[in-house]
Amino acid sequence: MKIFKDIESFRDWRKSKTGTIGFAPTMGALHDGHLSLIEKSQKNCDFTVVSIFINPLQFNNIEDFKSYPDTIEEDFKLLESKKIDVVFIPSKEAMYPKSSTTIVEETKLSNNLEGESRPGHFKGVTTIVAKLFNIVQPTHAFFGEKDAQQLRIIQRMVKDLNFDIEIIPCETLREESGLAMSSRNENLSSENRQK
Ligand code: PAF
Repeated sequence: MKIFKDIESFRDWRKSKTGTIGFAPTMGALHDGHLSLIEKSQKNCDFTVVSIFINPLQFNNIEDFKSYPDTIEEDFKLLESKKIDVVFIPSKEAMYPKSSTTIVEETKLSNNLEGESRPGHFKGVTTIVAKLFNIVQPTHAFFGEKDAQQLRIIQRMVKDLNFDIEIIPCETLREESGLAMSSRNENLSSENRQK
């Protein structure tokens, strides 16, 4: 498994590859839901790239950002055991240099539901996903149906900005209790988990 921490070395790897590239963008704290996206990519594509980047731009609340689970060592072990080709784990400085002033915004589907309760969240998601698409240049990208609104917005963005990428929706995986698997579940108290 190759691990790239900077954009240039990832690009060198990418230039050397032909065939299909499947991409699963993540913010780490990997669980079986992520693994199902990865397995789907491995089944359908010649190479699979997983990115891990806790994207500050999509957190409208600093406390939420600070408490987002960071399990990088476990994530690496898991990805290694799944024989992933490449993990891309850029720094915040690489993705958002101080000079950067451009964002990507979807202006309709982002306004209601989660967009209402988390102002600016989807702007952060579309910006980082567009940047990752431009760097990774996948042929296929895998997104969970759990984040249904995110999935629809990404599909819209891909159409609107003419990305030549097939977005593959992946079924929600659930814990035994029925709760949808999510990195944030780690932060739930047993009472909140029950709720
Ligand atoms: O669904 C997520 O984990 C994130 O929103 C994503 C797509 C990796 C962008 O940071």
